[in-house]
Parts: sequence; structure tokens; C-alpha cells
Amino acid sequence: MAQNLQLTQFLNKVVLITGAAGGIGRAVARALLETGAIVCLGDVNTDGCEETVQPYLEKNKSAKHLIYALDVTNASSVKGFVDIVVATFGRIDCAFNNAGILSGSKPLADVDEIEYDKVVDIDMKGIFLCLKYEIPAMINTGDKGVIVNTSSTLGIVGDKLSAAYIAAKHGVVGLTRAAAMDYADQNIRVNALAPGLTQTAMTEHWLADPKYQGPLLSNIPMKRPAMPEEMVGMTLFLLSDASSYITGHVMTVDGGMTMQLKSKLRSEY
Ligand SMILES: NC(=O)c1ccc[n+]([C@@H]2O[C@H](COP(=O)([O-])OP(=O)(O)OC[C@H]3O[C@@H](n4cnc5c(N)ncnc54)[C@H](O)[C@@H]3O)[C@@H](O)[C@H]2O)c1
Repeated sequence: MAQNLQLTQFLNKVVLITGAAGGIGRAVARALLETGAIVCLGDVNTDGCEETVQPYLEKNKSAKHLIYALDVTNASSVKGFVDIVVATFGRIDCAFNNAGILSGSKPLADVDEIEYDKVVDIDMKGIFLCLKYEIPAMINTGDKGVIVNTSSTLGIVGDKLSAAYIAAKHGVVGLTRAAAMDYADQNIRVNALAPGLTQTAMTEHWLADPKYQGPLLSNIPMKRPAMPEEMVGMTLFLLSDASSYITGHVMTVDGGMTMQLKSKLRSEY
């Protein structure tokens, strides 16, 4: 079986993206618009989604896209997004479930229940709801589907002061593997992207503050954050036929952060 390795394979593919108003979601949405995909952008921030598509629309007025005021924590909002995409374009070929927020920096016992619930609702339950409605829509309207969920390096390793976020992002990995198992025999592939530190609205306050910037970058072998555009290659690879035999995996794109052995002795070399 020959694999399709061309980016043109996304031409007229219907791709749903959550968290498309900025950062990683915006970079992936713009890259997909360039390939000729039909991009459906969902976010609580619809003005940000308009900005995402603006440069592309200036070049190509006929580009097909859809913007939806989405709250990933709300089942009827997620179902409404999936329903309107199917009603408008007839199917969903790919989904990039990417909306997320950070938790505040504090030790676990200082995290209050309301903050914990908010982070877990958006970062983990949001992924559950997207999978719950996207997968049947893919099965009912096509012969295959591909999904990428955004986890984090903090979905595969621990760290200090981020209990709710770490729990939620580990949960995204669990949901990814569970969905991959449940639907592998129905031609649905589900993988996770685990970005390292990426320069977006989520992290700009840290990266702009010398107190945090030094320690953050010192943990990264490549000694710099990723730009959001550096998440595009892996995401499009996972959404494409080039990864046709890959499901249930977590792909780190982290400048080497999670592969290193951290010990005081070795860090002195
Ligand atoms: N920036 C990083 O260093 C980094 C590292 C690892 C993982 N991530 C993950 O990458 C994803 C994208 O983050 P980003 O860095 O691009 O940040 P970002 O803040 O630019 O993007 C997150 C998007 O999610 C949207 N969003 C928030 N709550 C929502 C809700 N309830 N419903 C719908 N949309 C909602 C926001 O409006 C925003 O557009 C997140 O899941 C984040 O956890 C980011």
C-alpha cells in the first residue's frame, strides 16, 4: 500500500480545530488553510478566530472555513460545533482538540477545588466531550477519521507547582489511548501531541520575566522555547496518511526536554 505523503492530501478535507484563536491552534489552522483544507475553528474567543483566518482570506477569498463560539466544557456547545460542521460540509475528516488553559503555580495542597475543577474541565473533560461527539460523526459520515489531542510534556512527566494541569494533561494521554483502542478497528486513529515550552499567550508572562525565563530555558537542551509554528509539522503528520499505522501514541515536540537525564552531577559537566 503506497502512503500519501503529499500535503495536498488535505485539499477539501474537513478539519475541526479547538483553541483556534491563538498560539498552537492558530498556527495549525493557518497551515491547514494553506493546504486547501476546509478549516472549522472553535474557541471561546471568536474574534481571535477571525484574526486566525484573516491573512489567508486576504489571499484567497474563496477559502472555506467556519468559526464557532465553542466552550469545550459544555456538552451541548461541543455537540453543536460537531453538528454544524457536519450540516455545513457533510463530514469531519480530522480533528485537532487543542483548547486548554494553565493552572496557577502553587503546591497541590494550596490548589482550591474551584481552580482544580476549572483546569480539569477545560483541559481534560473538554477532550472527552470532543472525542465523544467527533468520533460518531466521523464513523457516520465517512470511512475513516483522524484525531490529535493536545497534551503536554506535563502529560508524560511530573513537575512542581502544577498539580491540576499535570493531572489533566496525563488524563488527555489516557483518553487518547482509550479512544484509540475503542475505535482502531473502525478506522479512527487517535494520537496526542505533547508540546514543550512554546511561546504563546499562555507562556508569554513567564518568558518576558527574567526571573522565570532563565530557569525555564535551562531545562531545555535546545535552550529556547518553540514557536507555535514548530508544532505544525508533527500535528499535520499525525493528521495525515503519512502516519496511517500510528494510533494511541504521544509525540513530544520539546527541544529535548523530556529525554534528558537530570542529575546534579551530570548537569555540572
Ligand atoms: N504554550 C505552551 O508552552 C504549551 C505547552 C504544552 C502544551 N500546551 C497546550 O497547547 C494547547 C494550546 O495552547 P497555546 O499555548 O496555544 O495557548 P493559547 O492560550 O494561545 O491557546 C489556547 C486556546 O484555547 C482557548 N480556550 C480556552 N478555554 C476554552 C474553552 N473552554 N473552550 C474553547 N476554547 C478555549 C483559548 O481562547 C485559546 O485560544 C493547550 O492545550 C495547552 O495546554 C501549551
